[in-house]
Amino acid sequence: MTTSVLLTGIGELATLDPRHGEPLGMLFDAALLIEGTRVAWTGPRTQAPAADAAYDLGGSAVVPGFVDSHAHLVFAGDRAEEFAARMTGTPYSAGGIRTTVAATRAASDDQLAANLVRLVAEMQRQGTTTVEVKSGYGLTVRDEARALRIAQQVTDETTFLGAHVVPPEYADDPAGYVELVTGPMLEACAPHAKWIDAFCERGAFDADQARTVLAAGAAAGLRGRLHANQLGPGPGVQLACELGLTAVDHCTYLSDADVDALASSGTVATLLPGVEFSTRSPYPDARRLLAAGVSVALATDCNPGSCYTSSMPLCIALAVREMGMSPAEALAAATRGGAAALGRDDVGHLAPGARADLIVLDAPSYLHLAYRPGVPLVRQVWRGGRELG
Ligand code: NIG
Ligand code: FE
Repeated sequence: MTTSVLLTGIGELATLDPRHGEPLGMLFDAALLIEGTRVAWTGPRTQAPAADAAYDLGGSAVVPGFVDSHAHLVFAGDRAEEFAARMTGTPYSAGGIRTTVAATRAASDDQLAANLVRLVAEMQRQGTTTVEVKSGYGLTVRDEARALRIAQQVTDETTFLGAHVVPPEYADDPAGYVELVTGPMLEACAPHAKWIDAFCERGAFDADQARTVLAAGAAAGLRGRLHANQLGPGPGVQLACELGLTAVDHCTYLSDADVDALASSGTVATLLPGVEFSTRSPYPDARRLLAAGVSVALATDCNPGSCYTSSMPLCIALAVREMGMSPAEALAAATRGGAAALGRDDVGHLAPGARADLIVLDAPSYLHLAYRPGVPLVRQVWRGGRELG
C-alpha cells in the first residue's frame, strides 16, 4: 500500500511549478503531500488533504533537492599541493588531470568506490539529490569501464569522458588515442553510460576530435554533453549547439556568436562558478546569457583539480555574489536548470508527479542560501519520498 506523508507548516515553499507563478512558483504558509516516492499535491496549509503521517516544519523554507549535473567523482588522491601553488600564482592547466589519472589507475575498485560514496554522502548532506558522475581519470579501456561501473552504483546519470585529456602513453599519438576512445573504449564503456562528454580545450581535444568522439558516442546510443570555453575562447560552445547537445559546460569565455548559438539552439549553458573561485579566474557572464534567453544551469564540477567543492549552496552563493544572478535565478539554475541539463523533467521541481526530492532549510527563506554563505542550512533532505538519514 502506498503511504502518504504531509509536510506542513512550510513558511516558504519553492515549487518551481510555473502554475504557482514564475520564477520560483512560491507558496507561503504551505503544505506538500508525498504519496510513495512522488509529490502528490502542494498548496496552502489550510487546504491540505489528510495523510497517513504529518510533520509540521515550523515555518522553515523548503526547496527542491539540488540537481548537480556536472561532477567528476571517481578518482583517487587529491591535488592540494597544486591548489596551494595556484594560490601563489601558478596558473591552472589541463595537464594536472594526468596526476589524478596516475593515482586513479593505481587505486583498487574498493578505494575508488569508497571515495565516491563519501563524496556523494557529502553532497547529499548539502542538499544534492541528483548527481551526474563522469569517468575520465582512467583513460584505459579497463580503467574507464571500471570507473563507470562504480559510478553506476550511485547514479543513473553516468558520463563516459575518455576524451578528458590525452594520457602520457599516447603523448606522441593523439590520433591513436582518439581511435582508442571511439573504438574499444567506447565499446566497453557504452553499456555503463548514459552520456558521452569531451574536454574541448587547448591542451585537451580540438573541435574535430571532439566532434569525432561525440559522433561515435551518438552511434553507440549515448547522449552528448561537452566541456567547452573554460580556459579561453574556442569552438566548443558552437559545436555543442550545432550538434544539439543537451548541455555545454563551463562557458566562461564566450563570443557574441557563442551566445547567439546558445540562445537559438536550446542547449543548456552549465556554469560552474566553483571552478573560477578555485582557480582564481574570471567568472562567466551569467547576465549576458540570461539576457539573451539562454537556459542556465549551475553545478559544482566537483573534482580534485579545478574545483574540489561538493557544495551546491556555495555555487548558489557564488553565482549571486560574483556573477550577478538574482537569488531566484540561482536557485532555479541549481534545480530546474540542472534537471534540464540532464534532460530530466521528474526532478528539479516540486509539481505533482515529480520525484519527492526536497530540502528543508534551517531558514525562513531560500534567500538565506546566498545571504548566509558557508553556513550549513540544510536541515533535512528527502529523496524519493524518504528522509535521508
Ligand atoms: O571540468 N575541465 C576539465 N575537467 C575538469 C578538471 C579536471 C581536473 O583538473 O582534474 C573540469 O574543470
Ligand atoms: Fe568538468
